[in-house]
Amino acid sequence: RQLIVPHSKTAPPVVFHWIPIIGSAIEYGNDPMKFFVNCQAKYGNVFTFILLGRKVTVCLGAKGNNFILGGKSTVFNAEDAYTHLTTPVFGPDVVYDVPNEIFMEQKKFVKFGLSTDNFRAYVGMIEEEVEEFLSSDPAFSTYQMKETTEWGSFEAVKVLAEITILTASRTLQGTEVRENLNKSFAQIYTDLDGGFTPINFMFPNLPLESYRKRDRAQKQMSEFFAGFIKKRRTGGSGQHDHDMIAALLNQKYRSGKALKDHEIANIMIALLMAGQHTSSATGAWALLQLAERDDVADALYQEQVKHFGINGEPGKFRPLTYEDLRDLPVLDSVIRETLRVHPPIHSIMRAVRDDVPVPPTLAAPKSEGTYIVPKGHVVLASPFFAQMDPTVWKNANKWEPARWNDPEGVAMMALKEYTDEGGEKIDFGFGAVSKGTDSPYQPFGAGRHRCIGEQFAYLQLGTILSTFIRKMEFKIPTGVPEHNYHTMIVMPKTPRDIQYRRRHV
Ligand code: HEM
Repeated sequence: RQLIVPHSKTAPPVVFHWIPIIGSAIEYGNDPMKFFVNCQAKYGNVFTFILLGRKVTVCLGAKGNNFILGGKSTVFNAEDAYTHLTTPVFGPDVVYDVPNEIFMEQKKFVKFGLSTDNFRAYVGMIEEEVEEFLSSDPAFSTYQMKETTEWGSFEAVKVLAEITILTASRTLQGTEVRENLNKSFAQIYTDLDGGFTPINFMFPNLPLESYRKRDRAQKQMSEFFAGFIKKRRTGGSGQHDHDMIAALLNQKYRSGKALKDHEIANIMIALLMAGQHTSSATGAWALLQLAERDDVADALYQEQVKHFGINGEPGKFRPLTYEDLRDLPVLDSVIRETLRVHPPIHSIMRAVRDDVPVPPTLAAPKSEGTYIVPKGHVVLASPFFAQMDPTVWKNANKWEPARWNDPEGVAMMALKEYTDEGGEKIDFGFGAVSKGTDSPYQPFGAGRHRCIGEQFAYLQLGTILSTFIRKMEFKIPTGVPEHNYHTMIVMPKTPRDIQYRRRHV
């Protein structure tokens, strides 16, 4: 007699685990990429693993990304997946605490503030902040001794974190934040950030001191913003014309309602959290890689000399402009390649609101039928996995910026073949990467939740890296560190000290 298998509704295979509830939390948490590679070998591109009681269905590769990131928000839902983490940090009535249509309007308001006009104003401000930092921070005391080219050293993540917040507050966040950075704001920020960890994601309601600090910090920061927003409303925006708050003050929902003060405040907090670790990690990884690769660092330096050098005088450069930044292929490829090999976000999640069939081209059971991702699961897309796929990228594990500038070169893969949803060839120019949900390169995500901070991040990182490379050479005797996956954002493991010396006395 033949067994009747209900193959029309087959759930994806479940990853073998010894301990119920905990499931594969340890393997996934320690090294998600290794875990995915092992699971792919055993189960194929679609499988479910248990993560502390949750059922997480992973869909690997560009097709998996397309399935999840191109899915409808009514079935693959971001707010259900993230709100318990983000709302206590950002505050109410913004981002994942509101229906998706409202958040989409809020994203549009922010895009309005990320204008070319504002970007033009930001480049000089960022350059100035970095120069001021280098000439005053104790980590650069050797650099500050102008008569020597001795080697000094700095901690990559610490320095980039400081520079990122200094430059983001000088530009997007506004003078009030910049002026308060070294005072009360720093502690509030630290407490709030302490509530944005994988523990908070996995366990939303623990009776921990850090959770109480997070909640207090959220109120304090929201009130801090709301306080000066109120002042600005009465006093006019004046000298604040280019920051995000000035842009948000003028925005109205389709309903005709203006943004309330606390909504502006909480959007600003969300932007701060979205941009801080992502950009600082990317900057740190880029410098760590440049310290290891003299050839790329030299090409980057020569590009600066060629575009900005003044009469061949050593160490003399004209200031950067936004237009210049858009036309520096080596710089662009360094950032681009850093985001391929070290994307800050390794897993993108959505909560499944309805049973969803998996396209057979992505994965299918050995028996007939299709896999169904059941309602109640979480789906996980990993752009990182596709970005390291050896069947797509030549020497996938190697950090090789040249691959982006050399379509025919040895290090290049078939990326030039990729087109976006509309069939247009993807423009790999400054700040315009991978718009398609099926691209194998998506460090900024794809689809309706795609990042809106990409161009700002390129501008910020481009200016920071240019300023560093103009002034210093680097080396890293300990080598480029491995990934630490225990933080929300993929960070370099310690030691992560970079040695530097002045290029010119
Ligand atoms: C969304 C990466 C910088 C604001 C995202 C997503 C990724 C990402 C992967 C998609 C998340 C998802 O689909 O669940 C990055 C990287 C950055 C960066 C790699 C820097 C190197 C920034 C900055 C800002 C920002 C500077 C703000 C100025 C946002 C916003 C979203 C987003 C508002 C939309 C979230 C949504 O629609 O659900 N980012 N980001 N990001 N990012 Fe970024």
